[in-house]
Amino acid sequence: MSEFQVAIRHGDLADGEKTLVEIADRLVLLFRIGDQYFCIDDICTHDGGTLADGSHQGFEIECPRHGARFDIRTGAALCMPAFRPTQVHECRVVDENVLVKLN
Ligand code: FES
Repeated sequence: MSEFQVAIRHGDLADGEKTLVEIADRLVLLFRIGDQYFCIDDICTHDGGTLADGSHQGFEIECPRHGARFDIRTGAALCMPAFRPTQVHECRVVDENVLVKLN
């Protein structure tokens, strides 16, 4: 079972921004919305594309390859061509550190 690991410092990411982080050899995307953090795999379930260069607004990110969109809170695929969710990971802020627990 995975444990929480430090991903970034709370002040490292501005509100509304995202960053690519490697945790235990796995690339994940970390988003900050207000003082909340959300983390998903950097993998589009349509064809394995990276989501890191996709545009995001609110709680949605769009895959730059073919336009699938995902909800960063749940990983749910919101439109074709993706129909399977991408993996989400639990986030927590402790002592100015943002921690992520890989699922
Ligand atoms: S690889 Fe993401 S929409 Fe096709």
